[in-house]
Amino acid sequence: MRKGLQLITILVMSFMVLHACTDAAKNTIVEEKPVVKKSLNPNGDSELALLMRKMFAEAKRMKKQVQNGEEVTVLLDHEKILSAHATEPKKAASAEYKTWGAAYLAGIETLKNATPETAETAYKSLVQSCMNCHKALCPGPVVKIKKLKMPA
Ligand code: HEC
Repeated sequence: MRKGLQLITILVMSFMVLHACTDAAKNTIVEEKPVVKKSLNPNGDSELALLMRKMFAEAKRMKKQVQNGEEVTVLLDHEKILSAHATEPKKAASAEYKTWGAAYLAGIETLKNATPETAETAYKSLVQSCMNCHKALCPGPVVKIKKLKMPA
């Protein structure tokens, strides 16, 4: 019985993932061509989508700081990932989203308090926490997030 339920949950979630974040994937590609300025999302970009783009830029900036041995500065209010309005509000309200979100926020705290010795590890696990949520809930931007990874 439990197995059956789990299977249904997995099926429903796979459907949601396939159906969801395809727009985000298109946006990601479009974003890199400066000529195309319009969003492909007919309803406009959600507050969460805009925040995610800022988070990408922030992570890119923090990566440089880590690589240069500088102190890592956090400028965005990352807590907003838990309240920003999403293209699919049900997804952002799910227990799974909140769990990955909490892990991400913990990663931000760790990086904020990192020493020059621990900063690289902290940065890597932060990017991994972006990946974890995206692989589970929103695979479209995964390719883009990979660019944030440090050379091994
Ligand atoms: C807790 C889950 C979660 C975490 C953690 C997370 N994301 Fe997202 N991300 C999402 C969801 C859900 C969307 C879809 C937002 C929407 O359309 O409303 C998204 C969208 C995006 C997009 C596409 C935005 C657009 O242009 O439409 C990018 C890029 C992105 N995230 C990058 C990142 C990066 C970089 C990190 C880590 C620094 C990160 N995400 C962490 C869930 C997450």
